[in-house]
Amino acid sequence: MVESRGADPSKVRGEADENAARERMRTLVADIRRYDELYHGAGAPEVSDSEYDDLVRELCDLEARFPQWVDRGSPTRRVGAPVHGGLAHLVPMLSLDSLTSNDEVRDFDERVRKGLDLPDGEIDYMLEPKYDGVSANLLYEGGRLVRGLTRGDGKTGEEITRNLLCVHGIQPELGGPGRLWPERIEVRGEVILSRSRFVELRAEREAADEVPFRNARNAVAGALKRNEPDGLEAFGMDFFFWGIGDLRGFESATTYGELCQWIADLGFTVSPQLTRARGGAAILDYHDDLERRRDELDYEMDGIVAKVDDLALQRRLGRTARAPRWACAHKFAPRRAWTKMLDITVGVGRTGALTPVAVLEPVELAGVTVQRATLHNFGWLEDRDVRVDDRVEIERAGDVIPEVVRVDVDARSAGSQPFQAPQACPRCGEPVHEEGAFLYCTNIDCEAQIRQRILHLGSRRALDIDRLGEKYVDQLLEAGLLKRVEDVFALPERREALLNLERWGEQSFNNLVAGIDRAKRPQLPRFLFALGIRHVGEQVSSDLADAFGSLDTLRAATLEQLLEVDGVGPKVAESVRDFFELPATAHFFEALDRAGVVVSALEKVEADDNAGGALPLAGRIFCFTGGLETLTRDQARERVEALGAATASGMSRRVTDVVAGTGAGAKLEKAAKLGLRVITEEELTQLIEAGGKAGGDAE
Ligand code: IVH
Repeated sequence: MVESRGADPSKVRGEADENAARERMRTLVADIRRYDELYHGAGAPEVSDSEYDDLVRELCDLEARFPQWVDRGSPTRRVGAPVHGGLAHLVPMLSLDSLTSNDEVRDFDERVRKGLDLPDGEIDYMLEPKYDGVSANLLYEGGRLVRGLTRGDGKTGEEITRNLLCVHGIQPELGGPGRLWPERIEVRGEVILSRSRFVELRAEREAADEVPFRNARNAVAGALKRNEPDGLEAFGMDFFFWGIGDLRGFESATTYGELCQWIADLGFTVSPQLTRARGGAAILDYHDDLERRRDELDYEMDGIVAKVDDLALQRRLGRTARAPRWACAHKFAPRRAWTKMLDITVGVGRTGALTPVAVLEPVELAGVTVQRATLHNFGWLEDRDVRVDDRVEIERAGDVIPEVVRVDVDARSAGSQPFQAPQACPRCGEPVHEEGAFLYCTNIDCEAQIRQRILHLGSRRALDIDRLGEKYVDQLLEAGLLKRVEDVFALPERREALLNLERWGEQSFNNLVAGIDRAKRPQLPRFLFALGIRHVGEQVSSDLADAFGSLDTLRAATLEQLLEVDGVGPKVAESVRDFFELPATAHFFEALDRAGVVVSALEKVEADDNAGGALPLAGRIFCFTGGLETLTRDQARERVEALGAATASGMSRRVTDVVAGTGAGAKLEKAAKLGLRVITEEELTQLIEAGGKAGGDAE
């Protein structure tokens, strides 16, 4: 019935055909990006973590073999989520190569030794846990915290200084004996929530009917982005040091171990599990030991990190575009347990996707009682033939909701029958539509979809409106105060009706109104994400905002224009077009206009903010098309960004400078149509060499 989708890693294995590789790389980039979107909250995950890791690995291999076809926006190069209006890290925040097998660790050690011309030597490594939290970059100048940023896309992060000051272990001033401070230091580490504190907060949240946390990491991410950090200390977050960025005026440490000692003297928490060990085999021993003890420690780790101890050797090894060559993460195997699947229920998501969910005989997994697990989608369910009453193995990779990874077919009873996918929506009864591995309820008025869309609109990563958790939304739907998503914006006018409801008082009503007022001035990328368009998660929202700049321009975009945006394939483009063409969407926007919702167009703020207006290319936006000869696109991008410019992946009116390399095609035609200024690679090089001061003014 449903076709099985997903990747076939054997497609180009051993194949010298460049075209096939290029095609496969395109498919992998598109698939991985979509899975990233789903993972980050745009819907139900379609693949398991290990399938996802395999795809990333396959893409990395192909990129190493065919560097000429590497996509500039490849997920292997992207360190994190893009940030709008963010501030630049003084030194980029890198990612880590993530290894899962012992052989890969041995290869890493061999690469390090070869890279240092020590093929037979033994390297001293510092070993520490890989914390499963949210990274932060703290800039201290003259001993005072001047700003704290999220990691963002690795180059720029969001400014969250006030929130970070509520984290235990982050001080406004550096401590330390003799108060000998470096002139400037970027202290980096992970903000985490201990397991015990997470369990408490989750219970509190459940009692208050707020949207449940997916895991401790998400809880921390939400807390760090709170608009109002008052009282945030009580959340109970901790900061663990794992590295430094820029450092001026005090550079006496010669090893990572010494650096950690010094950082601890300045008042930060360094891992109590930090150990120095010699040789690649010691990395494996440390990994196995910590994995055995992982439940004894009160915080989540998803593996260990090994770092070459000697800082001079680190410098010699250098880095790739996304990760240092002197460090690696060795992941732990996910936690698993066997139990019985009592039933399969079907949920309806906000895009109408029907999702099968396993109801389990309760089982303990890493200190949490698990009663439900995701079965992804009906294609997945059919491929694996998971049946009611089966003995199943479940896996929890850090999230509260685990997934079913294996079935014990031998333990199946004789009368067992395959699960029948529904022909109709279990909530509204309308027929379902099949698309790839998914079944969809296509009834735009389906109450279950509306409920989910409202929950999504109010969720933290979307418009972040308090009091729009499940219990309250259900109550408001039942009372008829919410019938459609847009009714959210009319709630401030329903004061009397709301105050008549149970659990509503002046205070909670005022909080709701304040939340809705804030939500009436959304930034374009967040707003697009909040719309809950199928296949449009945070990344695509951000790309669309970048390319079109304003909601009106995006609404008027043709399918062809949508397809010109990097990372937008036919599926996404059609979904966006369909959404904007729906009569219900027109009503939605009319209602938002009436309520005074104003979506901020994406100004050229990123460039201006980053540069404080002082850099020569501040305010200019570069877009590259075609191949460059004297430098790679990444280098070109880095150079113009260092001079204060921003870069865009798609061609739009916002672009001020188009750099046309060899073989520039459709994008260049579009640039000509838009009347944009086009420069050659030579002109770009001159501009860079002149420190951004030559080349005229594009405005
Ligand atoms: S070192 C250049 N050490 O994992 C060094 N990172 O996958 C890069 N992380 O961005 C990071 N624990 O957010 C390092 N002990 C640890 C870590 C750690 C957690 C996170 C960090 C980093 C990500 C890389």
